[in-house]
Amino acid sequence: MEIFLDTADISEIRRAAQAGLIDGITTNPSLMAKVAGDGDPRDLFVEICEVVDGPVSAEVVATDTDGMVAEGRRLADLHRHIVVKVPLTEDGLRACRALREEQIAVNVTLCFSVAQALLAAKAGASYISPFVGRLDDIGHDGMEVVAEIREVYDEYGIETRILAASIRHPRHAREAMLLGADCATLPPSVLYKLMQHPLTDTGLQRFLDDWKTLGKEL
Ligand code: E4P
Repeated sequence: MEIFLDTADISEIRRAAQAGLIDGITTNPSLMAKVAGDGDPRDLFVEICEVVDGPVSAEVVATDTDGMVAEGRRLADLHRHIVVKVPLTEDGLRACRALREEQIAVNVTLCFSVAQALLAAKAGASYISPFVGRLDDIGHDGMEVVAEIREVYDEYGIETRILAASIRHPRHAREAMLLGADCATLPPSVLYKLMQHPLTDTGLQRFLDDWKTLGKEL
């Protein structure tokens, strides 16, 4: 499973990219608004693309098809790593189709059901982003939607990549792996929690204590 970082924070992106931990980035307008400040958000997208050797999702903010297509073209022109993110609305799916006809990669976002995911695939989506945590928030089982999309895409030989999104904790990431999501996008806090285990810490401490009894250096 590919791991994407769900942030626009360039220092977090550098940290994870330099450690070779991530395959790409997802952003959304809320994440951009947190960090873009007075600068041009397009400059931030370019900076992110130069740090990460992989897809970088950049979301449109127009809500009509023509506006989304125009913004999508401008975003795609910024850098070859850009994947244009469009919402799962009728206009968004029309924009997806139009952008895909121009060979622009598209991530269809704000997906909450398997039926929506099938329609996104029909519109040619490169990625579909089911929002697991937001479904959990309203009392549903978000991972169930990931499982259903996997089953339906496999059944019909659909190549759209499943990008599990709105991941809130390590258990979500684990379940996404086990269910066969192609990718999961993790907030930095979840990425670092994934590598932690108390037995790793106590095991390391014991090794170091035992080594000290030798009184030797390596
Ligand atoms: C995905 O592409 C979105 O940016 C993100 O995962 C949304 O997560 P949230 O529900 O925690 O805001």
